[in-house]
Amino acid sequence: MPLVTSTEMFKKAYDGGYAIGAFNVNNMEIVQGITEACREEHAPVILQVSKGARAYANHTYLVKLVEAAVAECPEIPVVLHLDHGPDFETCKSCIDGGFTSVMIDASGEKFEKNIEITRKVVEYAHDHGVVVEAELGTLAGVEDDVKVSAEDSSYTRPEEVEEFVSKTGCDSLAIAIGTSHGAYKFTAAQCTRNEKGILVPPPLRFDVLEEVSKRLPGFPIVLHGSSSVPQNYVKMINEHGGKMPDAVGIPEEQLRKAATMSVCKINIDSDLRLAMTGTIRQFFDEHPDKFDPREYLKPARANIKELVRHKLVDVLGCNGKA
Ligand code: G3H
Ligand code: 13P
Ligand code: ZN
Repeated sequence: MPLVTSTEMFKKAYDGGYAIGAFNVNNMEIVQGITEACREEHAPVILQVSKGARAYANHTYLVKLVEAAVAECPEIPVVLHLDHGPDFETCKSCIDGGFTSVMIDASGEKFEKNIEITRKVVEYAHDHGVVVEAELGTLAGVEDDVKVSAEDSSYTRPEEVEEFVSKTGCDSLAIAIGTSHGAYKFTAAQCTRNEKGILVPPPLRFDVLEEVSKRLPGFPIVLHGSSSVPQNYVKMINEHGGKMPDAVGIPEEQLRKAATMSVCKINIDSDLRLAMTGTIRQFFDEHPDKFDPREYLKPARANIKELVRHKLVDVLGCNGKA
């Protein structure tokens, strides 16, 4: 099956009460770990590429890696998506360069300007058979070189969504309901601690999600910043020379609940990074004499695969939906 857009995927996910995993890819091992899990679990998947990934790995290398995965996994639908497109030019370059979906992230702009920028991308993308994700509201955390503090973040205002979607013509909408980018999603002050001393973050704003869904019936909603920051990998990192105190993510049961609602796409990047980093740190600690990248990237890739499998089955519910 060639690369597809997310249109059909989102329709089925909306009606079926599950979400599609959107995983960030930066190199071959990450692409392989994700797509092998999706192939074995018969799950549709969105592979997404950020501005930073393009700067690191090069547009052509990433497209070719994804094309290789499509050839190896012909039975599952795969979307190639630009994550957090910062401007029209970057979106155009990806649309012209083989992507089937782009995000234009003008959420840092004023409402009218966000509409204007998004509209321009939508016109170009739709003329070329490509779909567009836009964003309203501002998440906290770090994405590419932009860092948004918790105080500067803002929940999506449900009263703005109908006007935004109808004026822009976007195909899906990322909203801010309390998720956040990176591995440190909340400060200790924002959380409580459970009996084991683990930080428990404030719950997502399901009231905002419900109000948005009521105003946009049938319309696919996207959640960014949805890594759960698995504590086994934080522990592995800290036990093998790392220092990541109080790293905390979104509880998986809340993401599961969102997936049964109007949320059709859930973005996960930091969890993959933690699995890869923890595995490699442990490997070097246990094998200080080894220096063959294949030897440490192999277990890292295997752990990414198992982490993705867990997300597909236990969080997103998209296994068996390809
Ligand atoms: O939301 C941002 C994604 O996690 C991508 O991160 O810009 O470091 O590639 P990146
Ligand atoms: P995380 O940092 O929670 O993995 O979020 C990733 C993301 O939203 C990519 O756009
Ligand atoms: Zn994001």
